[in-house]
Amino acid sequence: MERRRFGSTKREIAIIGQGTWKIENDAGAIAALRRGLDLGMTHLDTAEMYGSGAAEEVVAQAIAGRRDEIFLVSKVLPQNASRRGTILACDRSLARLNTDRLDCYLLHWRGQHPLEDTVAAFEELKSAGKILSWGVSNFDLPDLEDVRKIAGEGSLVCNQVLYHLEERAIEHAVIPWCQQHGVAVVAYSPFGHGHFPGPRTTGGRVLKQIAAAHNATVRQVALRFLVRPSSLFAIPKAASPEHAAENARAAEFQLSNAEVAQIDEAFPLGSRPSHLPML
Ligand SMILES: NC(=O)c1ccc[n+]([C@@H]2O[C@H](COP(=O)([O-])OP(=O)(O)OC[C@H]3O[C@@H](n4cnc5c(N)ncnc54)[C@H](OP(=O)(O)O)[C@@H]3O)[C@@H](O)[C@H]2O)c1
Repeated sequence: MERRRFGSTKREIAIIGQGTWKIENDAGAIAALRRGLDLGMTHLDTAEMYGSGAAEEVVAQAIAGRRDEIFLVSKVLPQNASRRGTILACDRSLARLNTDRLDCYLLHWRGQHPLEDTVAAFEELKSAGKILSWGVSNFDLPDLEDVRKIAGEGSLVCNQVLYHLEERAIEHAVIPWCQQHGVAVVAYSPFGHGHFPGPRTTGGRVLKQIAAAHNATVRQVALRFLVRPSSLFAIPKAASPEHAAENARAAEFQLSNAEVAQIDEAFPLGSRPSHLPML
């Protein structure tokens, strides 16, 4: 599994990880996560929101006995993200995950609580060793600037955002900002949350042709395309060991510049929204 430095941390993290939204609490789902871990997809993403804590309990079963291999990420819900609420939410997540620490703790999206309070709670959790780093999710440019003003340069480790072939908006400003400030970008719903381009669409045909040239699958080509910037990571969710294994193998080949250009043309980026400032 290819690894790269995760934001401002000193850690090399797998470029393809595993999501857990809507994961079932059954032997198949646990076997899928474990197969993914065996193949190096050791970045596990979960959240207190997923199944109201049930996903974290599934993750606990999957990582039992192998915690030290894992880069474990969970998220606090915005309504819990007050100074005290964040600490309590983290304690609950740690208990459900049956661990003493998170590798990274994220604010799931920006809500009503002042960011200053959430950041202060994250720093307190870091000092206590309950989290090793912290980040945000679903943050656009103005929100990212707000965090930087509050926390300073280097504290924000990642921004987890929607990114797939048919939703490339983050390429306009979020990815460049994150590259400039040493922040990892984690692509969620990399397969469009199950709405993957069909084989009879123009884009589907392009993916199939490129996949054939690499003895790969269309989803592997899609993942490989998404992680082409050096700050990018992707966290597909898979319910079976076969799907997990397929996803892990996306890290085993490279796309040529010509193939990237073909995908770029088949899944156009779209124009830059006028509200975005130029960097
Ligand atoms: N921060 C946020 O706000 C946020 C929002 C959404 C998601 N996320 C995170 O990102 C993770 C991934 O996103 P997602 O769950 O929305 O969707 P996704 O990963 O884009 O797509 C998951 C779908 O793709 C299917 N799939 C996975 N691997 C496959 C394969 N090799 N072949 C065929 N189908 C395959 C899955 O089917 P099976 O399940 O049957 O394998 C499932 O239906 C989430 O689980 C969550 O951890 C974060």
